[in-house]
Formats: sequence, structure tokens, C-alpha cells
Amino acid sequence: MPKVTFITDDKSADAQDGELLREVCQKNDFTLPFGCENGLCGTCLVAIKSGAEHLSEKTPQEKETLEVLMAYEDQRLACQCKVQGGDVTFDLE
Ligand code: FES
Repeated sequence: MPKVTFITDDKSADAQDGELLREVCQKNDFTLPFGCENGLCGTCLVAIKSGAEHLSEKTPQEKETLEVLMAYEDQRLACQCKVQGGDVTFDLE
């Protein structure tokens, strides 16, 4: 079972394989804020510190929003990516 760690909260939680990072955060009361939950607003922008290869490919919507935000390569939208196959550690942007 993949483990998700949010550095700001100093908290980890188990994720189901294929679960959205957003769902893991919300189920486990991580303090990461969410807005639209649809990849549009950028509220859930996070920096992936390790395990980026364990996140799903960027959706066209996520790519577009990351481009608008001029995000760095290690940044993702937690409402759009799924945890798959291994552990992920992330922090606020
Ligand atoms: S909550 Fe709006 S982009 Fe993720």
C-alpha cells in the first residue's frame, strides 16, 4: 500500500493504489487547502519531494493550469494526480 507524506503537517497516510492525492489528503485531515477540485484554480499546487514517478500522468487540464501558474517541473495539482505503485512525499509549493 503506497504511503503519502505531507511534510508541512509532518503526517503520513496509506493510500489505495490509484487513489487521488486529494482524497488521501481529505480523508486524513491534511491541512492542504482545496478549491475547485477540478484542476482549474491552482489552490492545491504542491511540490513533489520524492516519488513523482508514483503519480499518474498529467491530465490535459492539469497541464494547462500548471502552465498558467508557471509551475516548476516538480509541482503538481493534488486534486488531479493519482497515487500509483509507490510512496509519495510532497510539500506546499
Ligand atoms: S483544487 Fe482547484 S486546482 Fe486543485
